Amino acid sequence: MQVCSNNQQIIDLISQWKGKGETVAFVPTMGGLHDGHLSLVSKAAQVADRVVVSIFINPTQFSQNEDFDNYPETLSDDLTLLENYPVDVVFTPTAEQIYPKGLSSDVKAGSLAQGLCGGTRPGHFDGVAQVVYRLFEIVTPTVAIFGQKDYQQLLVIKQMVEAQVLSVKILSGAIIRENDGLAMSTRNQYLTKAQRQLAPELYKQLSVLKQQILSGGDVISSTKHTQEALEKHFKVEYLSVLDANTLKSITDNTAKITILCAVFLGSTRLIDNIIFNQG
Ligand code: PAJ
Repeated sequence: MQVCSNNQQIIDLISQWKGKGETVAFVPTMGGLHDGHLSLVSKAAQVADRVVVSIFINPTQFSQNEDFDNYPETLSDDLTLLENYPVDVVFTPTAEQIYPKGLSSDVKAGSLAQGLCGGTRPGHFDGVAQVVYRLFEIVTPTVAIFGQKDYQQLLVIKQMVEAQVLSVKILSGAIIRENDGLAMSTRNQYLTKAQRQLAPELYKQLSVLKQQILSGGDVISSTKHTQEALEKHFKVEYLSVLDANTLKSITDNTAKITILCAVFLGSTRLIDNIIFNQG
């Protein structure tokens, strides 16, 4: 496994592979790696000849009051974890390598960035679209893999790839959870012991709501009921039941439904979702 922080180095390496007809799978991350990230790395190795993982805490997707300055930096632990996986190169660029011309960008997120996390984190998905576009420009992957944990992000990236007419194929990986159901997240380490015990209630309540919808319960009143149950433990930022393909309201014709939720537990923001077929 090579570690490379220079654009030209990785560009040369990848062009050697591609010259031999090899395919490249790419897993972009911000580090603080856990089994959720690592599941994407395993998937990458199944779908291409070469695997590239990037670790870059992207400043442009954090707004001023967010945790950019405190975001966990665990590079040496991350590299140790990745040694156990079939990774060819870990790309650890500096901000200068990613943004040589400064932080502003013409690449913006599309319509799927509106509402949900895009509503409460203005500019966040523009920053995500910008950095993913730039990483794709450098890595030129055949396929790139993102987690369903950040479901709106996954759709925003698919939309960006279409809008920019990029040839990369976007695949997704299922949400990896702790044994008690809490979706794994780099930010879970911010939780106190007491908060950590409460946190699985988020997934429990979303699962109850899914069952109610599947058994024909009224979506609006079931959602209201779930919101009230969540508010006993969390400050709810949003709870929405939407068409999983369009992020619009569901209708009788909606094939795939998603329940999307963001809450605060103290000052820690948790997001989770469930995707399922309608009836
Ligand atoms: P980060 O939060 O590090 O996540 C990197 C990838 O891991 C994302 O595709 C995310 O959806 C996936 N992931 C996180 N937790 C997961 C879990 N519990 N199960 C499955 N997959 C999980 O998302 C980002 O970084 C950044 O926005 C990035 C795309 C790298 C752009 O900066």
